[in-house]
Amino acid sequence: MGHYLVTGGAGFIASHIADRLVREGHQVRIFDNLSTGHRRNLEAIGGSFEFIEGDVRDQSAVRAAAQDCEVIFHQAALASVPLSIKDPVQVHDVCATGTLNVLTAARDQGVRRVVYAASSSAYGDRPEMPKRESHTLQTLSPYAAAKLAGEFYCESFAHCYDVETVRLRYFNVFGPRQDPKSPYSAVIPLFVTALLEGRTPTIFGDGSQSRDFVYVGNVVQANLKAAFTPDVSSRVYNVASGERVGVAEMLKQICDILDVPFAPEFAPPRVGDVLHSWADISETQRDLGYAPEISFFEALKITVEAYRDSLSSNCLV
Ligand code: UD1
Repeated sequence: MGHYLVTGGAGFIASHIADRLVREGHQVRIFDNLSTGHRRNLEAIGGSFEFIEGDVRDQSAVRAAAQDCEVIFHQAALASVPLSIKDPVQVHDVCATGTLNVLTAARDQGVRRVVYAASSSAYGDRPEMPKRESHTLQTLSPYAAAKLAGEFYCESFAHCYDVETVRLRYFNVFGPRQDPKSPYSAVIPLFVTALLEGRTPTIFGDGSQSRDFVYVGNVVQANLKAAFTPDVSSRVYNVASGERVGVAEMLKQICDILDVPFAPEFAPPRVGDVLHSWADISETQRDLGYAPEISFFEALKITVEAYRDSLSSNCLV
């Protein structure tokens, strides 16, 4: 039985993927440079696995990590629109060149399939809703451009070489272990930890912008299905809940769960922000048998509890 390599495995989403694979008894290898990932996420994984500290920009390190692997879950990235606006070259190197390195290593090491963490940012701000995989793309940030470059490399490798690739366009993923402490953290951990610590959350814009928030457990399910479903090589699938919620509305729901008043600060909209993001998940459901297992509100409650527990035990999720 081959190994399963999870790049970025000390990060938020990838550590949940690795956790599931380990629990199912697979041989798991994690590759991470611990720049945005954390050892505490590795410690949360329920079983044994191999850990290689390395960087996806280092071609020979990636090649070594891919040895004897059957599937690579390529999740390593610098996942931030604002960071990409500040430092587009670094985000390109990690997200685009890093993906090319992973694909080259997969080709050279005879890996059967690469599952690539693509991004809903590829849809930009075009008016068609909900977003279907076939919609015209629009790159409004260097982050979107770099993740899309990775997609194009995936498609080309499936065409040119004997390596299967499946791309999963993640929408706004949330759940336990999502880092709340970086200036580039995602909105849900920022809002939840602000409220738990008695600080005022900030809404950029008027809060009417909307997102399709998807619980990390659903993203894990999509990854496993993408790895094992036959005849889906070179395809791309949305991974989302198929429902959208406004940012202000989402904050109200968190306030309800925590039983605190809704009293945010408002700041100007962020550069590069898209207004609305909402996925059509029918192709993912049809081809991969993907079925979100948990509703937004239930997942929000689980996530809030996880942050509350970790703050009260004085360590981060
Ligand atoms: C974007 C991408 C997503 C990508 C992610 C990586 C889109 C639609 N999505 O997410 O695919 O994986 O970047 O980071 O392009 N906000 C506030 N207050 C805050 C923080 C954020 O109001 O304190 C707002 C933002 O302005 C935005 C929304 O919340 O409108 C979501 O922001 P964020 O969580 O950073 O993710 P996106 O930028 O949507």
